[in-house]
Amino acid sequence: MNPTLRHFLKFTAAGRWVVLPYRFFGIALPRVLRQLRLATRWTFTSKEHYNFTYDLTDLNERYLASFIAVVSGHPLREIEGYIAELKADERLRSVLMNRARASRDRHNSDIVPRYGRRMGWYALVRATRPRVVLETGVDRGLGTAVLAAALLRNAAEGFPGIVYATDIVPDCGYLLDEPFKACCRILLGDSVTTLQSFEESVDLFLHDSDHRPEYEWAEFIAIEPRLHDASLVLSDNSAETSKLLEFAIRRGRSFLYFQDQPKDHWWPGDGIGAAFIPGARTFFPDVHRATTLEK
Ligand SMILES: C[S@@+](CC[C@H](N)C(=O)[O-])C[C@H]1O[C@@H](n2cnc3c(N)ncnc32)[C@H](O)[C@@H]1O
Repeated sequence: MNPTLRHFLKFTAAGRWVVLPYRFFGIALPRVLRQLRLATRWTFTSKEHYNFTYDLTDLNERYLASFIAVVSGHPLREIEGYIAELKADERLRSVLMNRARASRDRHNSDIVPRYGRRMGWYALVRATRPRVVLETGVDRGLGTAVLAAALLRNAAEGFPGIVYATDIVPDCGYLLDEPFKACCRILLGDSVTTLQSFEESVDLFLHDSDHRPEYEWAEFIAIEPRLHDASLVLSDNSAETSKLLEFAIRRGRSFLYFQDQPKDHWWPGDGIGAAFIPGARTFFPDVHRATTLEK
C-alpha cells in the first residue's frame, strides 16, 4: 500500500471513518452471514430445540484430547485412541439411532448421535477406570449412554464400574438400551436431594442438570462428602458460571476449561470444566487398591 495512504488510514481520525465500511461489510458482515446461513440450514435440517448436539471441528477435537490428557494425567496418544474407539463404535451408534427412531421424542430430536464434548467424558472414563460415575441430568440419555459404553469396555478389560444418573423427568434416558443400560442406574427425583442421600464413594462427578449457579453449587456441596482425594469433578455448565472454579479452589484443586467449537452449527458451543490435581495420573483401580490396603 502507498505509504501516504497507509499513514492516512492508520493514523488519522478521518482515516478511521474511511475504513468504517470495510470493517462492517468486509470483516464483520461475512461472519454474521455465515452464522445466519448455518442457523437457516439448522432450522430445516435439525429437530432439536434445546440441549443441542453437534460434532466438533477437527482442530477442536484434537484440543479436547489434549485437555483430557492433562486432566487425567494419561498420554495424549492413549486419549486419542479412546476417542477413535468411540467414533468407531457402530454398536453404540446403532442402539442410539434405533432408540431415537422408536421414541415419541423423534419429532424434536435428531436421529444421528453427535457426541461433541461427550467424547472427552468417554475418554476420561476409559483412561481412569472409575468404579462409580455420577452424572446429574440425563435428558435423552446421550451422555449417560456414552459413559455407560466406556464403562462396558472397562468391564470387559477387568475394571467394572457403574454410572448413576439423576433426573427429575420420569421418561428421561430413552436412548439407553442393552447392553449399555446394564452399566447404569437412573435415579429419579430432584438431584440435590438424591445426592444428599447417595451413599457410595464417587470417583467421577459430572454436573449437567439444573444450570442455575446456586443449583450447581448445591450439587457440589451435596456430593462433597462422597468425594475422595483422587475424585475428578466435571461441570457442563462452566461456560456460564464459575461455580466449579470456586469448588476447585475450596478443595485445593486446579481448574481448567475446554470450550467446544461446533462444526457447521450456529450454536457457539458448550464446554467442560474440570477440577483435578495437575500432574497426577488418575487410575482409580490403584486408588481403591491403596485404600483397601490402608484399612
Ligand atoms: C442439559 S440436560 C442433560 C444433558 C445430558 N447430560 C446429556 O449429556 O445430553 C439437563 C437435564 O437436567 C434435568 N433437570 C433439571 N432440573 C433438575 C433437577 N432439579 N434435578 C434433577 N434433574 C434436573 C432436566 O430434566 C434435563 O433432562
